[in-house]
Amino acid sequence: MLKHSIKTFSKLINNNSSNILNNATTSIGVKSSIVNYSSTATAQQQVAQAEVKVYGGLKDKDRIFTNLYGEHDVFLKGAMARGDWYRTKDLIDKGKDWILKEIMASGLRGRGGAGFPSGLKWSFMPKQSRGRPHYLVINADEGEPGTCKDREIMRHDPHKLIEGCLVAGVAMKACAAYIYIRGEFHHEAKVLEQAIDEAYKAGLLGDNACGSGYKFDVYVHRGAGAYICGEETALIESLEGKQGKPRLKPPFPAGAGLYGCPTTVTNVETVAVAPTILRRGSSWFAGMGRPKNSGTKLYCISGHVNNPCTVEEEMSIPLRELIDKHCGGVIGGWDNLQAIIPGGSSTPVIPKYICDDVLMDFDDLRRVKSGLGTAAVIVMNKQSDMIANIARLSKFYKHESCGQCTPCREGSGWTWDIMERMVTGDAKLDEIDMLYELTKQVEGHTICALGEAFSWPIQGLISHFRPEMEDRIKQFQTNTKQSPF
Ligand SMILES: Cc1cc2nc3c(=O)[nH]c(=O)nc-3n(C[C@H](O)[C@H](O)[C@H](O)COP(=O)(O)O)c2cc1C
Ligand code: SF4
Repeated sequence: MLKHSIKTFSKLINNNSSNILNNATTSIGVKSSIVNYSSTATAQQQVAQAEVKVYGGLKDKDRIFTNLYGEHDVFLKGAMARGDWYRTKDLIDKGKDWILKEIMASGLRGRGGAGFPSGLKWSFMPKQSRGRPHYLVINADEGEPGTCKDREIMRHDPHKLIEGCLVAGVAMKACAAYIYIRGEFHHEAKVLEQAIDEAYKAGLLGDNACGSGYKFDVYVHRGAGAYICGEETALIESLEGKQGKPRLKPPFPAGAGLYGCPTTVTNVETVAVAPTILRRGSSWFAGMGRPKNSGTKLYCISGHVNNPCTVEEEMSIPLRELIDKHCGGVIGGWDNLQAIIPGGSSTPVIPKYICDDVLMDFDDLRRVKSGLGTAAVIVMNKQSDMIANIARLSKFYKHESCGQCTPCREGSGWTWDIMERMVTGDAKLDEIDMLYELTKQVEGHTICALGEAFSWPIQGLISHFRPEMEDRIKQFQTNTKQSPF
């Protein structure tokens, strides 16, 4: 990474623009203690002066999920031995405002995909109860293709989530948490239920949770496997026993959510890290990763790597290091890499030359016009067909559209249809622009973000793999002796 950063540094320095240098240093994760660069200093001297901070290489002492692979006792005894439920009463006694302040100061951003600051989001709940109960809803739907992190927490470290529900619940003055778990996670639901039972028996939940006098219940609700039920308002509908279809916003769930009561829907990982942040302090969490991208993160890496895995790492770790260090590299070597979807199937694909340098955090992936999303890294080497890969995602989104809004219902079908033809090349060249334009018409014009979710992968493909799409069309036309125009 160091070598790598310096190389990029030198490239930038050749531009001879201190402005570019300063901007780019932050974006490639090199924090410079820019101690007064003198105007006479040479570029090489400037490099030597820079204090290089490298992200990644999470130390065991900073690991939050210490039983991610289920090597130790999953249940209460094991969880307590690992530090869970340690003086939880003290955390509760410090009160709602203290919890919110600490979560805000930690810089924690939601791990469900959008990366919204969690402390701020939790603070949107009414400060005082207006006679209606407040609810915390845990989004354990984990439907985004490529994502397999919440499942690991629930089956191997369920008490982290349950204790997290309690402290987050206190911060929101919630009386109960509903864990909405996707239907296919049968084993995980069983483990959670068993862990909740033992938490009740130990007095950690219930009328007098942890002896704090706070009454708090936790329920598990199993979904039926529809991707759209991961969208927070569709999830609420489904929890209420209705069809899982997103609601128009406003009102937002914090105003009127489950059964019309103030509700916060938040991801499993977001809540599961909260007790450790409160115990170890917000500055400890904020000290990892780049500013505004703090903490540790569960990354799920799949596709063409030698060892697909889910691993906890420091936020802002370089993508290449993540893959080389934890997955045994790309199949066929780094030079055999074609492209990566960095944050689950709805984030735009990035080609190899961007993967060479990019950091795995919200802001750096945004800089390269993609996103951290759920941090589900899908690796594709040069032996795979990029157009077919994205067409497969189009099929998925078409299938999962709930059909409420016309741009999504119709657009997901049209884009899938065109993408299928792009795979064989049975299309016209100007259909590439038409396809792009179509996705642009959908973006921002739908009730929920599924519109963006099916548009962005196609936009990423066109932005980075247009020549391949054109070649495919020309090849098809040559083979069938037709005009490509
Ligand atoms: C179509 C769609 C599917 C989603 N699926 C999930 C999911 O499976 N799990 C999840 O946590 N968030 C999912 N989200 C995001 C949620 O709506 C919500 O933003 C998230 O649960 C908030 O949690 P956080 O604040 O902890 O990030 C989905 C969003 C959309 C639009
Ligand atoms: S964008 Fe699609 S999935 Fe979302 S509400 Fe509209 S039709 Fe349903």
